[in-house]
Amino acid sequence: MTRKRVAVLISGRGSNMTALIAAARAPDYPAQIVLVLSNEPSAAGLGHAQQAGVATAVVDHRPFGKDREAFERALDDTLHAHRIDLVCLAGFMRLLTPWFVTRWSGRMLNIHPALLPQFKGLHTHRRALEAGVQQHGATVHFVVPEMDSGPIVLQDSVPVREGDTEATLAARVLEVEHRIYPQALRLVAEGRVTLAAATAATRG
Ligand code: GRF
Repeated sequence: MTRKRVAVLISGRGSNMTALIAAARAPDYPAQIVLVLSNEPSAAGLGHAQQAGVATAVVDHRPFGKDREAFERALDDTLHAHRIDLVCLAGFMRLLTPWFVTRWSGRMLNIHPALLPQFKGLHTHRRALEAGVQQHGATVHFVVPEMDSGPIVLQDSVPVREGDTEATLAARVLEVEHRIYPQALRLVAEGRVTLAAATAATRG
């Protein structure tokens, strides 16, 4: 088995990144996390990755100002330098241009803390509570140019409980995230789920 070389892109604490690194330690896991890349030099996840013995890189978006494509060319160069096969966005807080998304089409996943297509964008737990839904959850999807809209690889739900706050609901959803992201990456790395197949399934 040739294990796929995976980069995890983060901007913050990196708990999903840590879950992916842990899962990839299993001898039969079809992917290895070879790079953690952050746009945020102070991201806590960078330290966790280093402790886990994973190479890290920082491409700070600030020096590029409004030139998003120049920032993304620097990201892309770093990914190619590490011979990356698959990219996992895990709390990466920059919107990506169609140029970058197209380059990594079918090879880039994202995790979103809601049952897509519900609650795209930010503050999903607050919005789920405000909407009064009984089920909430998390989704791993292929990244397409439109935000939080790509074909779904995996999703799972949790109940919303009486008295839930944003924090209690977020914690319950986070457990799901840590479980389904490694499962989804496994499916994609093994070629058992592809962008084409997921697109067909989404269209029904
Ligand atoms: C997660 O809730 C993820 O779904 C969202 O951003 C958060 C990142 O958390 N996209 P972490 O950095 O993985 O702990």
